[in-house]
Amino acid sequence: MWYRGYVGRGAAPEILLNGLHRLEYRGYDSAGIAVLHGGNLQVCRAVGKVKNLEAKALGSDGLPRDAHTGIAHTRWATHGSPTEANAHPHCDDHAVFACVHNGIIENHQHLREQLRRKGHTFHSETDTEVIPHLIAEFYNGDFLAAAAAALRQLQGAFGVALLCRHHPDQIVAARKGSPIVLGVGNGESIVASDVAAVLGHTNNVIFLDDGDLALVTPGDVSIRNLDNVPITRDVSRIDWTLESVEKGGFDHFMLKEIHDQPESLRNALRGRLDADQGTAILSGMNMTPHDLVDIDRIVIAACGTSLHAGMVGEHLFEDLAGIVTEVEQAAEFRYRNPILSSRTLAIAISQSGETADTLAALREAKMKGSQVLAICNVVSSTIAREAGRGVYLHAGPEISVASTKAFTSQVVILLLMALKFARTRRMPRQTGVELVEELRRLPDQVARVLDRAPEIERIARKWAAARDFFYIGRGYLHPVALEGALKLKEISYIHAEGYHAAELKHGPIALLDEDVPVVTLANDIDGKDKMLSNIQECRARHAPVILTATEGDTDVAGFTEDVIRIPRTHQCLTPVTTTVALQLFAYYVARERGCPIDQPRNLAKSVTVE
Ligand code: M6R
Repeated sequence: MWYRGYVGRGAAPEILLNGLHRLEYRGYDSAGIAVLHGGNLQVCRAVGKVKNLEAKALGSDGLPRDAHTGIAHTRWATHGSPTEANAHPHCDDHAVFACVHNGIIENHQHLREQLRRKGHTFHSETDTEVIPHLIAEFYNGDFLAAAAAALRQLQGAFGVALLCRHHPDQIVAARKGSPIVLGVGNGESIVASDVAAVLGHTNNVIFLDDGDLALVTPGDVSIRNLDNVPITRDVSRIDWTLESVEKGGFDHFMLKEIHDQPESLRNALRGRLDADQGTAILSGMNMTPHDLVDIDRIVIAACGTSLHAGMVGEHLFEDLAGIVTEVEQAAEFRYRNPILSSRTLAIAISQSGETADTLAALREAKMKGSQVLAICNVVSSTIAREAGRGVYLHAGPEISVASTKAFTSQVVILLLMALKFARTRRMPRQTGVELVEELRRLPDQVARVLDRAPEIERIARKWAAARDFFYIGRGYLHPVALEGALKLKEISYIHAEGYHAAELKHGPIALLDEDVPVVTLANDIDGKDKMLSNIQECRARHAPVILTATEGDTDVAGFTEDVIRIPRTHQCLTPVTTTVALQLFAYYVARERGCPIDQPRNLAKSVTVE
């Protein structure tokens, strides 16, 4: 999740452990440290809090305190559960090399098999462990050359810091898709996955670019590419405070997590698209084509934001795959005595994987003999473990109480599942190919929505004093109306209600007047014409209207000056792009009102009681 390396004159174990403590709040499930001393590589790892690692590392059988070179890591499980064996650093068979890594090695299975055939033994379930073994395979005395040769074999994303016991004053670092920053101090150097881990030692930093390979020695750094061509990178002076750096320079974790979404979506999609067959690769579902065809009903159980993602899932499974689907508030599920069979697939959705009601629903579905799957973000969480199969979001830790990046990744995973079902059952290949192409473009389209933040902020500030809001949508955007309203109420404390636009006339319209803004999701998707009529109905009651509309769509011109433009996509992807705009809207309203955005009153990140 994050890592740091130190090479210099100081006491590496203590310096590295202090660094781990400082960033503890970010969430992790295990930690580890490796140091070089007296020609040996010594590793210490522990599950749980850094204090567990510290007790081991500084205990009587621990690490030599006067080691001057080391690397440390906190892990947030992605491949394999949070165990000591899976914690970083990982080593080769002879403990010559140690590696800490962020990112995902997509071809790790293939490499692992190759290395096994050559006699290597693996001790973890991680993708990372192939890296030190590969380096050992290429090593003939030149650490840097062996690292470059090994890293050239990797597909996927990595930021790595490496030690070799034959080179006691060196750390090798390399980056492809996962950030690395080097700190160059007086007689000491730092390698880190993030600038917050460098501050405190030095403010002089070098940001590596993709493809860079750095040899880091005390107070000095030399950079080349993986083909050994020397590269010059500027040294920057960073004057940020530690606090601002931890939030990636954003004022709140929520804003940082909103802005994480192009990357979290790339991680959700990475290695899961089959462009040729127009389908999804989701090995975690563990279902054969026969299993996929055999399912005759899907039931989704979740709470809060995850429930809204489930509602999008209902549209997706019915629309794309033609499978009867229902979404249940998880708390209701087991008390309603649901009708389930062995041909029912029950899907539990939960960011944390610990929500008590969702867990109870999962257990009920299992007990009634239906098939179960989980969609979780936290690896090896209770729901993920008890489901036994499913798909992880790989969204990274979500720290803000208001869920943002988890929602968009949940929708994408549901879409991938629906696509897999659809292609097995009734969807022609070409339609699947086109959808895969749309999915590929999605992270960039989300980035375009984020580029509109200043305009969204203007609209949010204009209406931040309102006491009530309505959000209305149809079809794929009905759940988004509910999610937009939930986001606004939980962080700004404004009363906000999400409705299906058609329901307006059946009651809520009685509340509309010039003081009640209506956020109208009028993107160019099925049902837009009816949304245009709904806008007229709101205007006739003098309610201010805020619109989301597709870029270039002129049908919405003249209704209001408060229009948030959303890039054109397949309609099944509009929940992702449009929700990002509503997250920003809620955020800026709450900020204008001076609310404690990351920790709203009365709310917990994970609701573990029924
Ligand atoms: O961890 P889960 O996805 O199971 O959490 C479910 C809800 O508690 C959660 O989505 C909650 O509604 C968020 N605060 C919404 O922002």
